[in-house]
Amino acid sequence: MEDVTLEFDYIVIGSGIAGLFFALKVAPHGRVAIITKKNSAESNTNHAQGGIASVMSPEDSFELHVQDTLTAGAGLCKEDVVRTIVQEGPARVRELMELGMRFAEHEVPGKSGVKELDLGREGGHSKRRILHALDVTGREIERVLLERVSQTPSIHVFENHIAIDLITTHKLGKDGTNRCLGAYVLDKNTQTVKTFAARVTVLATGGCGKVYLYTTNPDIATGDGIAMAYRAGAAVANLEFMQFHPTCLYHPKAKSFLISEAVRGEGAVLRTFNGEEFMDAYHPLKSLAPRDVVARAIDSEMKKSGSDHVYLDITHKPAPFIIRRFPNIYQTCLSYGIDITKEMIPVVPAAHYQCGGVVTTVDGETEIAGLYAIGETACTGLHGANRLASNSLLEALVCAHRAAQRAVTGSFPKWTDRIPPWHSGSAQNPDELVVISHLWDEIRRTMWDYVGIVRTNKRLQRAYNRILNIQAEIQEYYWDFVVTSDLLELRNIAMVAELIVRCAMSRKESRGLHYNLDYPNPDPAFAKLDTIIRKPVSATPPSPETSPA
Ligand code: FAD
Ligand code: SIN
Repeated sequence: MEDVTLEFDYIVIGSGIAGLFFALKVAPHGRVAIITKKNSAESNTNHAQGGIASVMSPEDSFELHVQDTLTAGAGLCKEDVVRTIVQEGPARVRELMELGMRFAEHEVPGKSGVKELDLGREGGHSKRRILHALDVTGREIERVLLERVSQTPSIHVFENHIAIDLITTHKLGKDGTNRCLGAYVLDKNTQTVKTFAARVTVLATGGCGKVYLYTTNPDIATGDGIAMAYRAGAAVANLEFMQFHPTCLYHPKAKSFLISEAVRGEGAVLRTFNGEEFMDAYHPLKSLAPRDVVARAIDSEMKKSGSDHVYLDITHKPAPFIIRRFPNIYQTCLSYGIDITKEMIPVVPAAHYQCGGVVTTVDGETEIAGLYAIGETACTGLHGANRLASNSLLEALVCAHRAAQRAVTGSFPKWTDRIPPWHSGSAQNPDELVVISHLWDEIRRTMWDYVGIVRTNKRLQRAYNRILNIQAEIQEYYWDFVVTSDLLELRNIAMVAELIVRCAMSRKESRGLHYNLDYPNPDPAFAKLDTIIRKPVSATPPSPETSPA
């Protein structure tokens, strides 16, 4: 196969808010490649609804935002990281506005013609502090950032390119500090593998909702960055803290459509299948209680009644308000035959956000020199055991900015090692592609059934056994078959599933998003403990007959 090697100063894997913001920041300092596995806009960012949490009102304070974040995080947040991100948030939000982002505004009461930001409210926030573009905040962010990227000549975007694995000095058999030299990338347009070399590589690959059967995440969310970093020898942590969003639309034809928490922020209430309010039995904040509490309450009500969903009811609000404030949710539900101004919305919890990830500093640095991780892929310590709503877009902005500052001033030498080209060995085209989709489904169902909102030791062990068997099977295909995008993603979701289960098994308590019936309470012994997993990296160079995985 022809050897294609491309050299850049910065390689950014992922084109969501974190990757695009980073790329724009480093663009004046060198050549940047953005590698993205579908079209540029396809990302979790593009689907974000509620908005960005940031202290922008004189009635709010950094201290209140910090305390709300720490409370949600159930003892596992890193307070210095929380303070940095909260305090630097407003400056980054203003930069986003300077780039062209327009957040919703309203007229100041009693001051005709004077506008101020329309701040929304979400669960766990003691103040209104969510900047939003109605219910399409993420789509607007992507549009603005991509437009800026397209106007920046030093940024080169590679769509339909999926990163396979990181290239590190340890994988090439070199001792000493493990240094990232770039990545092997499959060009899906030509089905060829290219080598991207750079002095700085950034993982901005988003989350891993697709590890679960039901999720609010789009198809790209297969945890590739977490799996690649782990395989390269970086630490990953706290993966047991998968956040389940309480309100995903329940409809046979709807795929992963979120009903924003902002709907509850504007007064919507949860009701049982029979129409009764139930959240007052679970938390004083009722339907606006923290997400883990609401998701578990819904799970419990569904199990009690045997129903397959509950309802969210906003019909008591004036129809013009609902339509103006939530145009996308209103239209989408209407397209499924549900008029939310008149009818209750059927909802279920679904996997939504990965609080854990690749261990980084607040500047995005990983344990591998020259490798950064930012956005949902990273575990900075902001979220702890449970993320406060709308804190992730904020984290992505602040950490992308800080990582860029580091990356341009850091003293990484340009890569000097000879990187061997990708070698596909004697791989063949598989004759039965059905096995890939079958294994994919099996992982996602196993994770949903055994590693979901409520866990037990037995369920976790069962999941672990299943995932290990599946991993072994995938390993065979991986070496024998030509790599395809589906096979790469399958290998990654299996890897991330295994890591989630291992983290969940090692946390012998219930805390935040991790709830295990065998240990139903928090245990002070785990109060400050992150669950960290690291793969020992072998210094054996790859055999010339096999792919350097
Ligand atoms: P993403 O935006 O997910 O981008 C990841 C990128 O990496 C994509 O371009 C993808 O194609 C690419 N990629 C992945 N793997 C590879 C690979 N192997 N090779 C090449 N490219 C790859 N958070 C909030 O703060 N407020 C909200 O209101 C909010 N609402 C949400 C609503 C929904 C429905 C969802 C799903 C999430 C929501 N979140 C919200 C969470 C938030 O949107 C995400 O955490 C955030 O957008 C993640 O940004 P990111 O840049 O890290 O990753
Ligand atoms: C939502 O709009 O409910 C999502 C907010 C978030 O996940 O932060």
